Amino acid sequence: MPDKTHQVTFNSLSGSIEALEDVDWTFKSADTGYLTHGLHSYPARMIPQIPDTLLNYYKSEGVISEGDTVYDPFSGSGTTAVEGRLHGLHAEANDVNPLACLLTLTKSIPLDLVELNSARDDLLDGLADELRTVRHSYEDGTLEFDEVPEIRDGWFPEPQLQELWHIRQRIDRIETEYSDQIARFFRTTLSGITRRVSYQRNGEYKRYRLPEEKREEHDPDVFDLFQSELSDNVALMRSYSEKVDHSLNTAVHYADSRTATENENAVEEESADIVITSPPYGDHRTTVAYGQFSQDPAIIAGDCGYDEMKDVDKIGLGGSKSDLEPIEALEDWSSAFGATMETLRENDGRAEDALNFVRDYFEVMKEVAKILKSGQPAAWVVANRTMSRVNIPTHLITRELCEHIGYEHEVTLPREIPTKTLPWENAPENVEGTKGDLMANENIVIMRSP
Ligand SMILES: C[S@@+](CC[C@H](N)C(=O)[O-])C[C@H]1O[C@@H](n2cnc3c(N)ncnc32)[C@H](O)[C@@H]1O
Repeated sequence: MPDKTHQVTFNSLSGSIEALEDVDWTFKSADTGYLTHGLHSYPARMIPQIPDTLLNYYKSEGVISEGDTVYDPFSGSGTTAVEGRLHGLHAEANDVNPLACLLTLTKSIPLDLVELNSARDDLLDGLADELRTVRHSYEDGTLEFDEVPEIRDGWFPEPQLQELWHIRQRIDRIETEYSDQIARFFRTTLSGITRRVSYQRNGEYKRYRLPEEKREEHDPDVFDLFQSELSDNVALMRSYSEKVDHSLNTAVHYADSRTATENENAVEEESADIVITSPPYGDHRTTVAYGQFSQDPAIIAGDCGYDEMKDVDKIGLGGSKSDLEPIEALEDWSSAFGATMETLRENDGRAEDALNFVRDYFEVMKEVAKILKSGQPAAWVVANRTMSRVNIPTHLITRELCEHIGYEHEVTLPREIPTKTLPWENAPENVEGTKGDLMANENIVIMRSP
């Protein structure tokens, strides 16, 4: 009987890839926030049922076994790394967003629960009174403002920003007294409430503020929010830590996966036994702006600078900071991409943006081919987005470009996205709050590495 997480199991008699084709990948109404998956709402997360089912399948087939390594070049909040450990695997991951790296480490590495409880008690000890004092002295005009570095004026109610900053400083002290890992857990919790405290509008992945008249009514209680989030997160972390093997490793590389094996903080070649990843849908500027989304939480809760956070959306796939040359031949190597480019050009659409994005994506496919041991599976979970109202068949482009590199196609598994919160493309007019076409379908493209 599947539980509420809708776990799919296989036995070794399942025997063929058809067993994967028989799965209903929609996982409608499945719980996607179990264990540490529920610690943070990073945008465009992959549902954990995807890596869970794939890992179950490839384990039952003897393609991977416990003690092996799963790699994710686009880690985001670390869904693959968490599922990896739940399946007895080491995990390795890349992301260009420091908040994503923080979340991946927090969510996938279990904690010593005695230490966690003690650190939590120390953190909360006297905190409510201290925050109340901040608030009262703000109200009677005696507050000595701490300078909160590099947060834009006018994005937070003032006393609350000071309260968030006060918690951040307490967490810095916890880091000295306990460990990085314990502090990361609290930073993740603080980053989770930062958005709700700010004037940022809910349901938008870009930075749009509440209208001015609504800002005055926005008076969140920082201590209540933090305490309640902390209590939920401790419960999730407790269940996770009791379940998983503490001796496994998670290595997170805060680095560009287009150069994963070459940069300073390199991933070793031939080090992974399986890859499960969900690449961005398009460049961060016109699809999900991970950097903008993460900017304030990362500066307030983590230890990230403004310039560093401003760069995230420029370094992400297809971003303006790429120094790679265009590769015209991509259009020949993938006929689906060639046809797409033709239509985009006819529509006077964003052909160059598409070319830049796919060129960057292709670099990652090549790096993954080096990192993944020969013949092992790489699952690319991709959505077919639209650009200038032209549908981009990302699943075909992924398959054809991987084949050009020498991967073999194993199977493509379509799935519908039941929750329609994401992903949308911004309407071409780029009008605040309006959206373009919904991308309601994803495909899991599984390729065997060269
Ligand atoms: C769709 S999200 C991944 C979500 C993740 N599977 C999860 O469940 O949370 C894509 C991620 O790719 C990251 N990214 C974009 N370009 C990158 C690059 N060149 N190298 C590494 N990571 C990149 C983004 O910062 C973002 O976190």
